[in-house]
Amino acid sequence: MPHRSLPSRDTIAATLRAAGCVFAEDEADMILAAADGDPGALDGMVARRAAGLPLELVVGWAEFGGRRIYVEPGVFVPRRRTEFLVEQALALAPDASVVVDLCCGSGAVGAALTAALAVADLHAADIDPAAVRCAHRNVASLGGHVHQGDLFDALPARLRGRVDILAANVPYVPSDEIALLPAEARDHEPRVALDGGADGLDILRRVAAEAPAWLAPGGHLLIETSPHQAPDALSAFTESRLEARLAVCEERPARVVIGRRP
Ligand SMILES: C[S@@+](CC[C@H](N)C(=O)[O-])C[C@H]1O[C@@H](n2cnc3c(N)ncnc32)[C@H](O)[C@@H]1O
Repeated sequence: MPHRSLPSRDTIAATLRAAGCVFAEDEADMILAAADGDPGALDGMVARRAAGLPLELVVGWAEFGGRRIYVEPGVFVPRRRTEFLVEQALALAPDASVVVDLCCGSGAVGAALTAALAVADLHAADIDPAAVRCAHRNVASLGGHVHQGDLFDALPARLRGRVDILAANVPYVPSDEIALLPAEARDHEPRVALDGGADGLDILRRVAAEAPAWLAPGGHLLIETSPHQAPDALSAFTESRLEARLAVCEERPARVVIGRRP
């Protein structure tokens, strides 16, 4: 069979630009690297990207916390703004030994925390089997444990009252705003990863309600939120008798509700 040569970077970039990709040259470089000289794989990746699949799901990884996080179709792509939640957790508990990444998706948060906390006993959990599979590849390789199930039901009972950091980037898009999301999220990320119920706070409220039973005294719960949800999110924390405050990063932009078990 005759050897087929790869299309040039310029040809790929032109295809991507015509499909609406703003950073077409950079994306062409990433896709070329991911295809690793295989023309068939390259054609497929360019076609999937041109059809609107998020770049991270096309090349199979997302950058998060200075690491490559493996991602696959059907799993939420970790957002760079969520690095703020990781930074807040590390600043609060640099000596944390028991860490939970609830609603872990790909496990990006857990992987970043585990990498920074050499002694952490890390548990990541998600309800979605595709996310759990993905998290295994990112977290288990760092010595973390991955569980499947509905919120705290997934966790080993022995963690009750012992968690130093409980990080939970829960779904928080109000149900009727999902249709307004960019197509990459709306069409290519699972609804279970986005839909937070009528006001977007259903899962956050459930996590806040149960968190005190799982946190160690002085342990922290951290949940990402949005500007307009922040007041109600703070109320949910204080109703659970957590000492609550909001951390804000305007640059990324990101907001994290932080609760401490007294
Ligand atoms: C916004 S995504 C965040 C994923 C990951 N933490 C990150 O930052 O990339 C929310 C995740 O919550 C999971 N999820 C939704 N409802 C859940 C539930 N009841 N129990 C456990 N996980 C849930 C979804 O499957 C999804 O992976």
